[in-house]
Formats: sequence, structure tokens, C-alpha cells
Amino acid sequence: DELKPKLDAAREVVLKDDMQQYASGDIPEDKQPLDAAFFDMPERILDEYQSDRENSELGRILKTAARLRDMVDKVVVLGIGGSYMGARALMESCCHPYYNELPREERGGRPRIYFEGNNVDNDWSQSLLQFLEMDSKGDGPEGSWAIVVISKSGGTLETAAAFRQFKAALKEKVGDRLPEYIVPVTGESGKLASLSDAIGITDRYLVPDGVGGRFSILSAVGLLPAAIMGIDVVTLLEAAAAMNTHFRSAPVGENVVLDYVGVNHLLEVEQSVLTRVMSVWSKSLESVGLWYDQLLAESLGKNERGALPLTVVNSRDLHSRAQQHQEGARDKVMNNVIVDSWRQDALAIGQSENNEDQLNELADKTLPEVMSAAIRGTNLAYAEDKRPTTNINLPAVNEAAVGQLFQMLMLATVVEGRLIDINPYGQPGVEGYKKYMNKLLREA
Ligand code: PA5
Repeated sequence: DELKPKLDAAREVVLKDDMQQYASGDIPEDKQPLDAAFFDMPERILDEYQSDRENSELGRILKTAARLRDMVDKVVVLGIGGSYMGARALMESCCHPYYNELPREERGGRPRIYFEGNNVDNDWSQSLLQFLEMDSKGDGPEGSWAIVVISKSGGTLETAAAFRQFKAALKEKVGDRLPEYIVPVTGESGKLASLSDAIGITDRYLVPDGVGGRFSILSAVGLLPAAIMGIDVVTLLEAAAAMNTHFRSAPVGENVVLDYVGVNHLLEVEQSVLTRVMSVWSKSLESVGLWYDQLLAESLGKNERGALPLTVVNSRDLHSRAQQHQEGARDKVMNNVIVDSWRQDALAIGQSENNEDQLNELADKTLPEVMSAAIRGTNLAYAEDKRPTTNINLPAVNEAAVGQLFQMLMLATVVEGRLIDINPYGQPGVEGYKKYMNKLLREA
């Protein structure tokens, strides 16, 4: 009860002060940067699309996706951090688990997707370049590939270096047609914008002002790769907009954003529960968890504060981390993300004639039933030992559910920031390593 007015007040700051200050440009010193534009971005993109299906940003994104579908067999998406995690989370949650391995017609003729520029790992970069070369014999879409390069600043070394390398390889293959095979997503100005001008690329997208990297999944940063993979981007945006409506109007106690913040915040301040385990009960959600790891860590890990995010995938990690979660230090909350229905028909364990593995008594049980027992059993075991858990139930893993989940978690992160007086935007700490890395590279 004590927390309720504070949560309401934090919501008001996000909905009123932040939005007004951002819109007017009159941002108090201690609130800078204030990247509040992510909040109503889904509504803005959808409205624009409804009024001009051809030339709106979303209309153009869909056209680019269709163009690449007809042109190439593979797209290499270059980006790191907020310019990478969202696209990967969308792919793993909304596409077939073996999307890249499916025959072309099963992918709706859409290109396979590969991610790079998210590290400086020599062997992975070389191997992808070799694979592209190996697999790119012949003309036409079957042998072709394209680049989507995403960097808001345009100056991030990992992505910039990869772009230079992959661009050189692509030029070898397509020669003067290079500009048709590259789609940049970047800020208005910056090195990548200038480079795109110099190459003569016309099909390009903006990372909007006031949208920070880790809050950009529902801008062109996430939507363009998603559209290329055939994800239903309209449903994704509608779901995020529905979460905004819910966040604005539902009272504490019935508001999934405020309740999630409230429970996690109380555990942190009253019981020093500093590790937030996002326990996802589907393999398709692992990258959603990793996307959230970045969101929470970069947004609230400041001023010597901020909970430690940790993604676990169950039931897999019941066989690795669960011992510690059950009996280790009492510094964790398990935030379960539970899937209520699966895309595929339920697979039963099945009868075996000789029953050597003695599973026949469970023969009629299906994998969803086993999963459900694992979830309930794990929660009961944690409850018995007074280990806190929360449940977020997704009706299914699809665009409608993850669109809501992404927006919910972004909203929760900024509300918590306002609640504990930490600016959720900006990531000044990330500059530390860059300063030394660049110095060392130039000295060597
Ligand atoms: O959340 C953020 O702002 C960061 O994680 C960035 O997305 C990341 O550093 C990549 O930056 P850029 O898009 O400028 O290459």
C-alpha cells in the first residue's frame, strides 16, 4: 500500500513530465539524456501507415522486405547492443526455430538471416564470409546476399569494422550494383550516414531522434529485419500500442507494468534481492531474455545501483542453475515467463514395447504437460523454501504476445528508473572500455 502512490507518481512522470519535456526540448540538466520518444512510437508508426500505406515508413519497410525477398537468398544483419538484440529476439520468438534451414518455399521465399558486427570474433566473421562465398555460386536470388547495417551513432567500432569487411566481399560479388544490396538504418548524421551517401544508397531508414538503442526494437531497427523474415509487424505494433493503453489506465494491482516493477522493487529494497532471474519456459524466448538483460543492465545499472539481470531457459537450466536458485544465497527473484499454448500439436512421450526406460506409465503425457508440471513443481519447490517467484503468462509465443511483452518491459524499466531516481536513458559507463580500446589500438 505504501508503494502504490509512488508507483502512480512514477507513471505520471513517464506519461506527463518526460513526454512534455522531451517534446518541448526543455529538459532539466539532471534528466539528460531523455529518450522518451519510444513510448508512443508504435501508435505513431501505425497511424502514419494507415494514412499512407505506400510512402509511410512502415509501407517502405514492407517494400524493402519484398524487394530483398525477390533479390537475395541471405541477409547479413550487422549491429550490436540495441542495434542487434531486438532483431535476434524477434527472429527467435516469431520465426520457425529452424527458419534458416527451411527450404526457400517454406520460408515464403524469404532470405535466410545471419547476424554479425555484434562482436570482433575473428573466427565467426571469417566463417560467415567464407560461407557466403561458398554458397554464392551462380546468379539470381539463390546465390545472392545483402547487408542490413544498423548503427544509430554510425561510429560503433564492432559494426563499422564488420560493415567494411562485408561490404568489400559484397562488392566483389555485385560490383556496381552494390547500393541496391545494402540497407542502412542509422541516425540523421554520422559516419554511416555519410558513407551511405558516398556509396549512393537510396533505400535507407532513420533511427529516430529520442529513441535510445535498447528502446528501438519497435522502430526500423527491429521492424526492418522483422519484415524481411516475414514477421507480422503490424500485429507486433498493435500489441505494443495495446500495452501502452493498459499501462496508462489500469490501476496498481491490475497493471502488469506497475505490478512487475512494484514486486521487484520491494524485494530489492526490503530484502536485498538484487538478482533478477528472467526464467523463460520456452527455447523461443531465450533471446527475448537476453534483450531484456541489456535493457535492464544498461538502463538501471548506474550510480552503484541496479539489479543484476540473468536469463535462464527452462526446463534446460533446471539442470544447471536451479540448484543455486533453490538453495543458494537469498538474493534472487525468479520472474517466470510462461507459455500457455504452443504452435505445434502436442507431442506425446509414446508407448514402447519393452519399456526398458520405464516411461510407459507416462506414455500418454505430452511435452506441454511435462512442461506444465515442471513449471508448477519448480514454483512449489521455491515457495516451500520461501524463494520469491512471479509469473508472466503469454497466451502463445507470437507477434501479439511478444509485442506486448517488449513494450511492457521497456515501460517497466523507465518507471523503475523514475521510482529510484536513476535516469534510465544513456549508458555513460559503456564509454569506459571504448576510450581504452581505441587508445590501445592506436598505440600498438
Ligand atoms: O542501448 C544502446 O544505446 C546501446 O546498446 C547501443 O544500441 C549500442 O551501443 C550500439 O550503438 P549504435 O547503434 O550507435 O551502433
